[in-house]
Amino acid sequence: MTTTTNAMSVGQQLTQSPVVNQALDAIVAEVRAKSAQITEPRPPIDGLSESYDAFLKRAGATRGRGLLYPYIGSGAGNGALVELMDGSVKWDMICGIGVNFFGHSDPDLTRAALGAGLSDVTNHGNLQSNWGPYQFSETLLELAGRNSNLSQAFISPTGALANENALKVCYQKHAPASRVIAFEDCFMGRTVTMAQIGDSAGARVGIPLSTQVDYMPFFDEIEAETVGIGAYIDASVRKLQQYIDRYPLQHACFIFELIQGEGGFNTAKKDYFRALMECCKANSIAVWDDEIQTFGRTERMFAYEALEVGDLVDVFCVGKMTQVCATLFTEQYAPKPGLLSGTFTGSGSAFDVGNRMLERLRDGDYYGDDGVIAKHRDAFRKQVRAMASKHPEWFPEVTQVPGKPGARDIVGGAGGMMRMTPFGGDKSKVTKACRTCFDEGVVLFYCGHGPYHLRMLPPLGVMKLEDWPRVFECVERGLAKAFG
Ligand SMILES: Cc1ncc(COP(=O)(O)O)c(C=O)c1O
Repeated sequence: MTTTTNAMSVGQQLTQSPVVNQALDAIVAEVRAKSAQITEPRPPIDGLSESYDAFLKRAGATRGRGLLYPYIGSGAGNGALVELMDGSVKWDMICGIGVNFFGHSDPDLTRAALGAGLSDVTNHGNLQSNWGPYQFSETLLELAGRNSNLSQAFISPTGALANENALKVCYQKHAPASRVIAFEDCFMGRTVTMAQIGDSAGARVGIPLSTQVDYMPFFDEIEAETVGIGAYIDASVRKLQQYIDRYPLQHACFIFELIQGEGGFNTAKKDYFRALMECCKANSIAVWDDEIQTFGRTERMFAYEALEVGDLVDVFCVGKMTQVCATLFTEQYAPKPGLLSGTFTGSGSAFDVGNRMLERLRDGDYYGDDGVIAKHRDAFRKQVRAMASKHPEWFPEVTQVPGKPGARDIVGGAGGMMRMTPFGGDKSKVTKACRTCFDEGVVLFYCGHGPYHLRMLPPLGVMKLEDWPRVFECVERGLAKAFG
């Protein structure tokens, strides 16, 4: 039997090969050079638009209905700017619903993805895997463990699946308890079970209901101000205890979305969450924290850090920005063998890019009261307020469900979860504004169940503070069209 040169596996020889690395560096440099041509929003390139319409029709035909936005990317972008197949360029302020925090054609991430492309296989699985998924889990667990007792991770390709796994872990630990407690307006994904738990009637049309859910009202700011925060929290705990007493020992978990994403970027006071979580602990109910939309994006890496509840979290889910999704749990919640598995964990490039993103979030100056994210939050809010003083008619008072946290203000959210509320939060006008802003060169989306907000999840890892006025030039034109 022969030994390999300098005790290196062939796999190591490949990743360390100077020939391979020079070739990859050359590709990254060429991607950089080409994407550097993308410098500002622009309309479609003449001659490409007709075929673009054909692509849109073909894309719609595969799904059986047209695309929500006429968006098909060309495969190139530059930071916060993205090019579509028709050659048009737009500010990407939604990033695939929060996925692309480092924007488009980031050289470091392109390099990570190319490196993963050398691998002998495309996808990794639970039975056979290369090192990528374990490296990703190690990095994530090291970060999560700084302010929580989460110590183990199970990977899955989507957020809804990570939530399914979280639910199984809770059920198994507290068997035979089968009920679930969730907040009003929560969103958890679109599997059969998650669609039942998520508080949206439209998302479960035609789905048989097999999961028993008890809904707690989410924090009501006005009510809390009226009765006093202490009395409000006591009343909330009483309400929770009523559910628990009504169905003794039947609740497996309470799902906390500490900052509601789809529900409209609502959050609450630390003491409120702590009191409810402590009530769960006292009644043997798992505290499950879904940070699939919030992770990495607010003024702290984890929302449980900002709200100082990490010590109370038993089960936790992450996704979107991490590129692959994961369910984390404490040692006490570790599932028995056989409960969780699946053919795929994810693609090699998703793990290597996800791991690089975690490292960059860890090593950068994104978090804290003076961090990059807080600075962008302030810049965004300044732009909205300036636009509202220029066009007060676009920003009438928000009167729908005013108790929702911050709902009376026209601007809100947390860190890089940014929302503004034109047109009093009216659904048809806000959704129209999404489309007119798109036409004017900025991709954004909406959130909330009334009031409805314009939502941004921008690529703050690459965006510059000077970009905000340029983005808002497009937003202003878009809102003018939606108003008119
Ligand atoms: C809080 C939350 N949980 C779960 C999910 C579902 O994730 P996915 O769409 O990857 O299945 C989402 C997606 O928006 C979410 O925001």
